[in-house]
Amino acid sequence: MLTEIERQEIMTELQKYSLKQAGCIEALRIIQKYRGWVSDEGIRDIAKILEMTPDEVDSVATYYNLIFRKPVGKHVILVCDSVSCWIMGYDFVREHLTSRLGIHLGETTADGQFTILPVACLGACDKAPAMMVNNELHAYLDEERIDEILKKYGRKET
Ligand code: FES
Repeated sequence: MLTEIERQEIMTELQKYSLKQAGCIEALRIIQKYRGWVSDEGIRDIAKILEMTPDEVDSVATYYNLIFRKPVGKHVILVCDSVSCWIMGYDFVREHLTSRLGIHLGETTADGQFTILPVACLGACDKAPAMMVNNELHAYLDEERIDEILKKYGRKET
């Protein structure tokens, strides 16, 4: 069930659109902002407000890879695996992250702090390799830089 704050924010957002269904992505983003991800219940709640079927809302949610349909960690690391980053060291970045955090792509650490997900181009090709953590872009990645970033987000040294 939506909280009053979520409902209010969605209703305010919908005023920007002549067709309420056009606010679907924003409604999903609002729920994710408060809960970290969008559950089946959240999908049904949005569907009711937007006069869509749950399947229609879910198809929008699953089309956009930045809407999470499963619980994720407190910090979501999106690692770019598109061509410039691939050439400039994606394999190294992925291996360093997965080894430091002890998880594979698509997984969340046992303490619920970090999730690593692959993502298409972050628009920082000239600064490759790049990744984004909680909407903050990090570029020119190397081993030292990745360790600094993980530390900044609270990863404890082992
Ligand atoms: S290819 Fe990685 S940011 Fe564009």
